[in-house]
Amino acid sequence: MNEKVVAVQDAWRQGALVDDAKYQEMYRASVSDPEAFWGEHGRRIDWMTPFSKVKNTSFAPGNVSINWFEDGRTNVAYNCIDRHLETRGDQTAIIWEGDDPNESKHITYRELHAQVCRMANILRNRGVGKGDRVTIYLPMIPEAAYAMLACARLGAIHSIVFGGFSPDSLAARIQGCDAKVVITADEGLRGGRKVPLKANVDAAIGRLPKDAVDHVIVVRRTGGSVAMEPGRDVYYHEAAEQVTDACPAEAFEAEHPLFILYTSGSTGQPKGVVHTTGGYLVYAAMTHQYVFDYREGEVYWCTADVGWVTGHSYIVYGPLANGATTLMFEGIPTYPSNARFWEVIDKHKVNIFYTAPTAIRSLMGAGEGPVKTTSRASLRVLGSVGEPINPEAWDWYYRVVGDSRCPIVDTWWQTETGGILITPLPGATALKPGSATRPFFGVQPVMVDAEGKQIDGPCEGNLCIADSWPGQMRTVYGDHERFEQTYFSTYPNLYFTGDGARRDADGYYWITGRVDDVINVSGHRMGTAEVESSLVAHAKVAEAAVVGFPHNVKGQGIYAYVTLNEGEEGDDALRKELVAWVRKDIGPIASPDLIQFAPGLPKTRSGKIMRRILRKIAEDDFSTLGDTSTLADPAVVDDLIENRQNRA
Ligand code: WTA
Repeated sequence: MNEKVVAVQDAWRQGALVDDAKYQEMYRASVSDPEAFWGEHGRRIDWMTPFSKVKNTSFAPGNVSINWFEDGRTNVAYNCIDRHLETRGDQTAIIWEGDDPNESKHITYRELHAQVCRMANILRNRGVGKGDRVTIYLPMIPEAAYAMLACARLGAIHSIVFGGFSPDSLAARIQGCDAKVVITADEGLRGGRKVPLKANVDAAIGRLPKDAVDHVIVVRRTGGSVAMEPGRDVYYHEAAEQVTDACPAEAFEAEHPLFILYTSGSTGQPKGVVHTTGGYLVYAAMTHQYVFDYREGEVYWCTADVGWVTGHSYIVYGPLANGATTLMFEGIPTYPSNARFWEVIDKHKVNIFYTAPTAIRSLMGAGEGPVKTTSRASLRVLGSVGEPINPEAWDWYYRVVGDSRCPIVDTWWQTETGGILITPLPGATALKPGSATRPFFGVQPVMVDAEGKQIDGPCEGNLCIADSWPGQMRTVYGDHERFEQTYFSTYPNLYFTGDGARRDADGYYWITGRVDDVINVSGHRMGTAEVESSLVAHAKVAEAAVVGFPHNVKGQGIYAYVTLNEGEEGDDALRKELVAWVRKDIGPIASPDLIQFAPGLPKTRSGKIMRRILRKIAEDDFSTLGDTSTLADPAVVDDLIENRQNRA
């Protein structure tokens, strides 16, 4: 294969934390003696009780257990704020850029400390303490970071729900972890449009048993009028006046849960991924520093939303633990114009910029013009996350956005991994567009074939990880068996990622996408089962099967095959109705792009839907459907092909 290689430029190596030789040396050390390696790097955070044990982990069937630094005690908020006060109290911790380009502000570490303490006191006054769950449903405003860090300060466990999720999805997530407190805002603001967050919270709570939620704290963002239930709801700014800005940071065990984050899997409802205190913070901070080659005084911008794991690890916890200046953006890349990202980079002199391929592809569509109206001279490192970046988008990002001056770190990881696992390092790794390249320190990728046999050398297969790293998820909230079943049962003694990959002759990894029933729409994970169960809940739908198909901007789109009840007519009006139904039920990110009405679905004689066939047809590639002789009724395939919705 003829692959383009972009060599490390001299300028990238200059002053970089590691060069290639150093990477090799550190990587070898990290896998040959993980105890020693992580014993040393575990000390990059401050421990109130130092750990003496480093690693106590097992992937053994029936006994999966993951503990890092287990006898140490610390406080995440202390590490992200208090320990910086002496040296950088007046340095900007957070630059907030509003949806409206005329609105922005700088929050210093000292101000962050005061705000987080106030938020913590508000929560404490409402009975929130160690181990209690708090659901956060906020837009991208500084209060989102305050709320996260306030929970961390108290040892409460936060569960952030992305503001694009519907009241039903929110209700399920509040109930899933039995949160007694919800923190929200009156309304969000995105691209000039208002998002009715408080109204959604009210609707969600309305679906829960009476008294499920004791308190709702409402941040005033737009000033829009919202219903306030006396005794339950309070405005944040009013409550903040009633408390002081001092709140001690208590020490918690390294394995005390820090947060729950719901994510989609191939079966059933989203699972609550649990991350804990010590290992998570060490890993988030270390990867943030090494992967972005973060340097003192630089401005770093990750465009993710705090509703996703990228926002947790690389807007809030990693950067703040490192004493960085992190930019938080409320808006969208296309408002008020397609030049917004690049204008914000110039306005705040952003040095490191981390975004998703879907954003790059959508901006690419507007051409080079909007980029070239800006200087982007401050940029030094570019990053990509969330889905495979196609070489065309990589090239545009490199050449047009970065003026061929900045390395691109294509970072592969997952909600479950807590931090980046496979990635280039700016001063060390020659780049290949489309490849996430090599493992981070301590990460041991292995490739397995369908039978579970490990394969060596250049190959294609399923991507697993052989041993634990400190940022790994610890369990599924309330369901450890599901944790073992989902990640450790397919290939015993290995963590199975759910991704397929190719490894080339240089040992570089090329992620090819999910091999399970999860689709990646604009970098957002969606379980096909979730969309299917939403569709079949509609009165006219008898059966549904959902698969992904290649989409120019979103990466993957959602393709739904729907069988209607006897006597129902499948037409465009019903298509619209079903799209609206799913949007309302789950949220806009789950909207099907294409709906095909199908009198029957291809099933085996035992009744199992043959998704392989559905995927092929959705890809408009039905020449190689493979063996269809095991189908109960082979004729349904002809109808599906005949009426396919995705014609080239
Ligand atoms: C995909 C996001 C290719 C992958 C941090 C993974 C990627 C899923 C990349 C996790 C990348 C993420 N290249 N694919 N650089 N980064 N993915 O949990 O399929 O929202 O399993 O975490 O996104 O998505 P999640």
